[in-house]
Amino acid sequence: MNPAILIRPETDADVDAITEVTVSAFKTLAISGHTEQFIVAALRAARALTVSLVAEAEGRVVGHIAFSPVTLSDGTQDWYGLGPVSVLPAYQRQGIGKALIEAGLARLTSLGARGVCLVGGIRTTT
Ligand SMILES: CC(C)(COP(=O)(O)OP(=O)(O)OC[C@H]1O[C@@H](n2cnc3c(N)ncnc32)[C@H](O)[C@@H]1OP(=O)(O)O)[C@@H](O)C(=O)NCCC(=O)NCCS
Repeated sequence: MNPAILIRPETDADVDAITEVTVSAFKTLAISGHTEQFIVAALRAARALTVSLVAEAEGRVVGHIAFSPVTLSDGTQDWYGLGPVSVLPAYQRQGIGKALIEAGLARLTSLGARGVCLVGGIRTTT
């Protein structure tokens, strides 16, 4: 990974930049409903962003990852959902997404998390 990339927790000052990064990352994805920025905002409003990290490069936010609690059907506690994870198109394929995921998993481990799941979405046409 580019050594000039800094991974750190989000602050209040990052909120608009996180929205911008999320919108940009998903903009050209056909599978996207282009609502991922609202998911991040809703999780933040619900105080469910257990871990929210940004990747900073050249003084700006270029990536973001969210982890939030999930409920498993068998009642197992302390599992989290990963996502959305977003990297600005111009910064993709440089190891930033991987660094965000690894940093997030390390933080969750330190919080006592037992597992993380990643759920893919399917957009219906109706
Ligand atoms: C998915 C995403 C976060 C990856 O970030 P990134 O910084 O480009 O990823 P990295 O450079 O860290 O790559 C990590 C690994 O994924 C692979 N990878 C990255 N993008 C890929 C793609 N589009 N297709 C296939 N593999 C891909 C890389 O080859 C790398 O594999 P390796 O570790 O075996 O070499 C970024 O492409 C993105 O924002 N995409 C749009 C939003 C999205 O789809 N988010 C995921 C669903 S929430």
